[in-house]
Amino acid sequence: MKNKVSIIGNGGREDSLRWKLQQEGVEIEPTVEHYLTVIGPEAPIAEGLTDELESKLIPVFGPSKLAGRLETSKLWAKQFMQRNDIPTTHWITYTRDDIEEVILNTRSYPLVIKEDGLCGGKGVVICETQTEANEAAESFASNKFNSPSNKILIEDFIHGEEVSCFVLTDGIDYKVLPYCQDHKRVGEGDIGPNTGGMGAYAPAPIMTEELKALVEKNIIIPTINGMQEEGIPYKGVLYIGLMICNEKPYVIEYNVRFGDPECQVLMMLMKSDLLPYLEAVAFEILHTLPDPEFHDMSAMTVVMCSEGYPGEYEKGFEIDWWDHHNFQSQKHTQVFHAGVKWNGDCYVTDGGRVLNVSARGKTLQEARDSVYELAEKISWEGSFYRKDIGHRAL
Ligand code: GLY
Repeated sequence: MKNKVSIIGNGGREDSLRWKLQQEGVEIEPTVEHYLTVIGPEAPIAEGLTDELESKLIPVFGPSKLAGRLETSKLWAKQFMQRNDIPTTHWITYTRDDIEEVILNTRSYPLVIKEDGLCGGKGVVICETQTEANEAAESFASNKFNSPSNKILIEDFIHGEEVSCFVLTDGIDYKVLPYCQDHKRVGEGDIGPNTGGMGAYAPAPIMTEELKALVEKNIIIPTINGMQEEGIPYKGVLYIGLMICNEKPYVIEYNVRFGDPECQVLMMLMKSDLLPYLEAVAFEILHTLPDPEFHDMSAMTVVMCSEGYPGEYEKGFEIDWWDHHNFQSQKHTQVFHAGVKWNGDCYVTDGGRVLNVSARGKTLQEARDSVYELAEKISWEGSFYRKDIGHRAL
């Protein structure tokens, strides 16, 4: 019998999981049945989907609602790190009633202001100037990002390089995946507003063996053990957002899912079948598997976006694909669908982040050359993408 899996979510991240599993002969079911269910985004985790499915004895790859607080409450995550001696930046908590006055009276920049609750990736603002702080004060006071919590954190800013760490864990054992780096700002040179992610690559050259050992000892192990000891074991993929500052890693945030577009890059690199790992996490038998194998190559994803993103944008533009299938078969490239819809006739844009052009190469430069060669050939009215993904590493 063929293996069957349901995937919750419909972005580029989920398309790459689907692509990888289909190569392994796995059938993807459109509805949640009694097969393994893989939860892509954080929102269903926050709503308790894992708990609901597990109560019906459906195996799930994804953490419980309580374990999901690592992402759904930034304050809970900070307090967890403090309890477990996990290196992070210093912070102070305020209520929404006080925040405007606090921000307006702060004169030290950059100023990091963070909503406690989930805000779809929009809840963190870094103010570099007083004008930016004035604007932010108003947004936070009026709850512009619709946070479900009344608490707001002000955190110390640290300079350094951001790295995304992904760990598969069944609550006790864990497997660390290749370290990735992404680009969150919309503009080249990492400027402009934050987005869900404009591009990513792996492995991240900044991660030396010494740094990886430090992350494992000071962050990964205390996080997994801490969750276990507090009676809320974490099952699924844990995304640890790190800042490397003076060759020391600090946690800037946890997410309870794969990163998007980091997942696309990881799926391009993963040589082992994915399904056994998803099942081993769901059934809590991860110790029975060896470490997953990855191609000894580099991978990159560039996100093609709609004009206006991350602000307002129009949908429904026909995509000109050129001959990308032919190209894909010649090179290690793949185009994942993120905000795309089939209108009965052709594929049209249906989101801000539309396509994820991805490639693997012997070197990062080779992966990058293939990505941009392909991206140049795909377009629609107003399409754009960053031309400098990977600039820190190259
Ligand atoms: N790429 C960043 C994120 O998934 O949150």
